[in-house]
Amino acid sequence: MQANSEQRLVIRRPDDWHVHLRDDAMLAGVAVHTAKQFGRAIVMPNLSPPVTTVDQAESYRSRILAALPADSHFEPLMTAYLTDTISAEEIARGFGENVFAACKLYPANATTNSDHGVTSVSLISEVLETMQRIDMPLLIHGEVTSPDIDVFDREAVFIDTVLQPLRRDFPELRIVLEHITTKEAVDFVLAEGENLAATITPHHLEINRNAMFDGGLRPHMYCLPTAKRELHRQALRGAATSGNPKFFLGTDSAPHAIADKESDCGCAGIFNAPYALEAYAKVFAEEGALDQLEGFASLHGPAFYRLPANEATVALEQQSIDVPECVQAGETVLRPFHAGASLPWRFVGAA
Ligand code: NCD
Ligand code: ZN
Repeated sequence: MQANSEQRLVIRRPDDWHVHLRDDAMLAGVAVHTAKQFGRAIVMPNLSPPVTTVDQAESYRSRILAALPADSHFEPLMTAYLTDTISAEEIARGFGENVFAACKLYPANATTNSDHGVTSVSLISEVLETMQRIDMPLLIHGEVTSPDIDVFDREAVFIDTVLQPLRRDFPELRIVLEHITTKEAVDFVLAEGENLAATITPHHLEINRNAMFDGGLRPHMYCLPTAKRELHRQALRGAATSGNPKFFLGTDSAPHAIADKESDCGCAGIFNAPYALEAYAKVFAEEGALDQLEGFASLHGPAFYRLPANEATVALEQQSIDVPECVQAGETVLRPFHAGASLPWRFVGAA
């Protein structure tokens, strides 16, 4: 990191270790934002139907690359969506052929397009055994889905009832607990060995659960796992800005058409890709920790995934930027995180 003056910050080009780029008409309009700011991204496989085979992942990767401008230098890192019946051979082949960078575990029905997810971790023990042996990362949406568990407790209960036993059974398996939202998750990650890490989104660093009910119901502040109490947000800010390499950037940018959000049964997901770095920079600046942004955004993730950090650098400037009310993605109108607000640091691109 080079801070040439108070107003300019130069860091290695960051990567996004958790993003939803969608498909079809929405893909181009969404992916361009991620490709502008990030060198690589771990692309979530929760399409409909989900990405469960090497062929599907290769063709999705081609569609992503085809949707980007010719001069973009963006590398999508593909993931396999674990189901009850996915084969260990297919996973191992995809990893061996450098198509799958990791596998994603969605507990069945935990979130958007997760109805094909895993109903019980015991059903995929052969897959997990194989992943442990070949050292393939497992990315986890850490929420139980039982309707009798309070929605705000689902991450903490998942850690106790699913993740702890899984760690005991597969101690060498490399795991990323995705988009953590609680102090319990922060404490768990800190207590575990170095083969367990976590991503943190910009929105969970910025909002607590009050944001969903601020003067009325706020569907654009709804995502899964949902934002929690303020004490949890404070724990996440502490973790992200601590310099600990177990915590790194994953936006969980999850676009849905405005009408699908503002609905009787609105979709979960916050679209933060267009101003993702600006959103993180705001938080790090508020915490007096801009010197830790490069580690979180550009160094800890590659180290965990055993990839080199990006060579290129990008600059941010301390200059306010206005976030528009809407962003057009093909035919679809999306509402970005921070819509209508302004952010104090601006991404200016290659340094
Ligand atoms: C994601 C989506 O819309 O695909 N939604 C979200 O609220 N984060 C799914 C997910 O990551 O849970
Ligand atoms: Zn996600």
